[in-house]
Amino acid sequence: MNDTQAKTILITGGGGGIGSVTALAFAGRGYRVAVCDVRLDAAQATVDAVRSAGGQADAYGADIGDAAQTADLFARLAADYGRLDAAFNNAGLGGGGVPLLDISEEDWERNVRVNLTGTWRCMKHEVKLMLAQGGGCIVNNCSILGINGGANASYTATKHGIAGLTKSAAISYAAKGVRVNAVCPGLIEAGLGLNVIKRGDEALRRFLALHPAGRPGTALEVAKAVLWLCSDDASFTHGHLLAVDGGYGSH
Ligand SMILES: NC(=O)c1ccc[n+]([C@@H]2O[C@H](COP(=O)([O-])OP(=O)(O)OC[C@H]3O[C@@H](n4cnc5c(N)ncnc54)[C@H](O)[C@@H]3O)[C@@H](O)[C@H]2O)c1
Repeated sequence: MNDTQAKTILITGGGGGIGSVTALAFAGRGYRVAVCDVRLDAAQATVDAVRSAGGQADAYGADIGDAAQTADLFARLAADYGRLDAAFNNAGLGGGGVPLLDISEEDWERNVRVNLTGTWRCMKHEVKLMLAQGGGCIVNNCSILGINGGANASYTATKHGIAGLTKSAAISYAAKGVRVNAVCPGLIEAGLGLNVIKRGDEALRRFLALHPAGRPGTALEVAKAVLWLCSDDASFTHGHLLAVDGGYGSH
């Protein structure tokens, strides 16, 4: 596949655990990958790994919680890429396992600003671009805590918000060629999940016990679900919250 044929995807939070593995997976399928992260050095490390594996990628530093930085990101993408065939809205913050009464105003605002408003803001830019080019696929990284409850109040609330945004946008734009779906991972042995796993405490044992598969998932298992949702094999799949959770959601 040469440059003019390569499909393009934007991955936000592409410097992190799930994002970087997903970038490698899409590059391996011939996509040119725009890797965005608030940590430009982490985005660049993913790009270096993609290029070492023979793929095409470019690093972009941007805070999706900031309207001006996000607008600038999409202006640069329009100039550099011209079109976006797919987008994986994956950037997100953990909530620190904090229940409602213990969340500070500051932590609540930060979680809502990045996880929910940031995802909504990226989707607005993506949908606009995709409608203009005649279609595209958007996948949001939600969570099993976007479907089920969790004591982690701000995280659970923002992920439920992402689930709602996914379904709402899918309904609005399905007939116009833009497919919007989400993956809902359970505990994944990467990024935020790895921090939980490393603690090895009672809370981890209780959380793991909710996964009938008896193990955490891998970032590659999430990446493969995103690949499928962005493929033509998923051409009639709209507004779906695809659990990648070892059976957690079946309780
Ligand atoms: N790892 C898990 O167990 C798990 C489970 C369910 C859902 N998720 C979701 O997967 C996504 C990726 O998480 P991860 O586990 O790979 O963690 P991670 O921390 O490794 O990745 C998140 C990335 O997002 C970036 N980021 C944070 N704020 C940003 C901002 N404002 N603008 C741009 N980039 C920003 C971070 O720098 C980081 O590289 C998150 O949305 C998370 O909620 C993870």
